[in-house]
Amino acid sequence: MDSMVTYNDVAIPAFIYGTAWKKEQTARLVELAVDSGFTAIDTANQLIHYQEALVGEALLTLAKKGVKRESLFLQTKFTSISGQDHRTPYDQSADLPTQVQQSFESSLQHLYTDYLDSYVLHGPHSRWGLSQADWDVWATMEAYYQAGKTKMIGISNVQANQLQELCEKAAVKPMVVQNRCYAVMGWDKEVREICKSHGIIYQGFSLLTANQDVLRDSKMWDIAKRVGANPLQVIFGFALQIGILPLTGTTNEQHMKDDLAVLDKFELSPEDVKKIEAIAVLEGH
Ligand SMILES: NC(=O)c1ccc[n+]([C@@H]2O[C@H](COP(=O)([O-])OP(=O)(O)OC[C@H]3O[C@@H](n4cnc5c(N)ncnc54)[C@H](OP(=O)(O)O)[C@@H]3O)[C@@H](O)[C@H]2O)c1
Repeated sequence: MDSMVTYNDVAIPAFIYGTAWKKEQTARLVELAVDSGFTAIDTANQLIHYQEALVGEALLTLAKKGVKRESLFLQTKFTSISGQDHRTPYDQSADLPTQVQQSFESSLQHLYTDYLDSYVLHGPHSRWGLSQADWDVWATMEAYYQAGKTKMIGISNVQANQLQELCEKAAVKPMVVQNRCYAVMGWDKEVREICKSHGIIYQGFSLLTANQDVLRDSKMWDIAKRVGANPLQVIFGFALQIGILPLTGTTNEQHMKDDLAVLDKFELSPEDVKKIEAIAVLEGH
């Protein structure tokens, strides 16, 4: 599998390299990730966790090596004040549409590009429902999509009821959702089912770090041995097989290659998929 296609007919590479927590190593690691075969990069205009400008630095180096902008899928996020420290990429006293505009324009500058492949709302303002603030932000993101400045828009850290409301009421429903994917929550089943019914691509993050118990389960090791992979690869392979587009945050060249190898290395049988789902259910009890 090389890519997944959104309901508005845009392809997303089937594995995304995530740049959170890479700090000053960000540029080196993005370059390494692309050299290792990743073509999709995830970042955010949020200095607490990401160094978007250093992603841009890597893109400049890659461009000099002949890697064309169009060959890469660039995804970044708007993060509201509650998810930022004092270093916001916008005027904190400005209204929300202006904050989104300033953040979006600064992302384009950081990434040396005039368009994004995907622009994601880092998270709704609260865990329950959508507020007027969320609608103001979303409307500004929709305007960027409608102006052709981003090929898709999406939402992250979203609860099922919030996603349902967004899909029902937005002028442009999200093309992607990006959530932390816990096995004990049925691998975020409720949200994934809404995505499926609306043709939204579900991106799962922290598939490894959030599911250490599953990784330790002997049944994972049995499956891994049988398909000639390691248990981490089995998690990514399982994710792809149930329709999750995975992100990885590895900092290691060999791990980058191991993670990408999952795309054509093995296929799990329906029985293996069921076994992995059952481990998660057991862990939940
Ligand atoms: N939207 C949000 O709010 C949000 C929040 C969190 C994350 N994210 C995105 O998701 C991305 C990934 O998140 P994550 O870092 O938690 O992902 P992850 O892939 O679950 O965790 C990365 C960890 O897995 C290890 N790893 C990966 N592949 C491996 C392999 N083949 N063998 C051994 N160890 C391996 C890495 O260690 P090594 O470095 O040693 O390989 C690292 O410790 C982030 O960078 C970010 O872009 C988004």
